[in-house]
Amino acid sequence: MICVVYSSVASDFVDEEDVQKILTRAEVHNAKTGITGALVYDGRRFCQLLEGNDDAVTSMFDDIMKDARHGDIKVMAQMEVADRRFPGWAMLRVEEPEFQTMLEGLAIRPD
Ligand SMILES: Cc1cc2nc3c(=O)[nH]c(=O)nc-3n(C[C@H](O)[C@H](O)[C@H](O)COP(=O)(O)O)c2cc1C
Repeated sequence: MICVVYSSVASDFVDEEDVQKILTRAEVHNAKTGITGALVYDGRRFCQLLEGNDDAVTSMFDDIMKDARHGDIKVMAQMEVADRRFPGWAMLRVEEPEFQTMLEGLAIRPD
């Protein structure tokens, strides 16, 4: 199982409705592919953790990277993991402080 964490800059046109659409899509799609994780959106930037089967996460991340709703994607961590951080959450929307705490737990330093 792998875990990928990245940050990105939301495109100018992105608003709360886009974020809701992403979450709705993620809930359905991630449940099918066995991906779990968390997403933070602070009005300007995204930060996301994706975890699951190597192929499922890699293929999902390839698609996410092509998504016009964000750019300047920076991979903060990509690693093999034994356990999930967000079991039971196809994609959990979290607030920035919780995400920071989670990153610290993974020993990942945001830039
Ligand atoms: C920041 C961000 C995070 C996303 N996370 C997910 C996700 O976890 N699961 C998912 O199915 N789609 C996610 N998406 C949406 C996919 O990128 C997009 O729906 C998918 O690539 C299909 O695109 P299409 O509908 O244009 O074919 C995310 C998009 C963005 C911008």
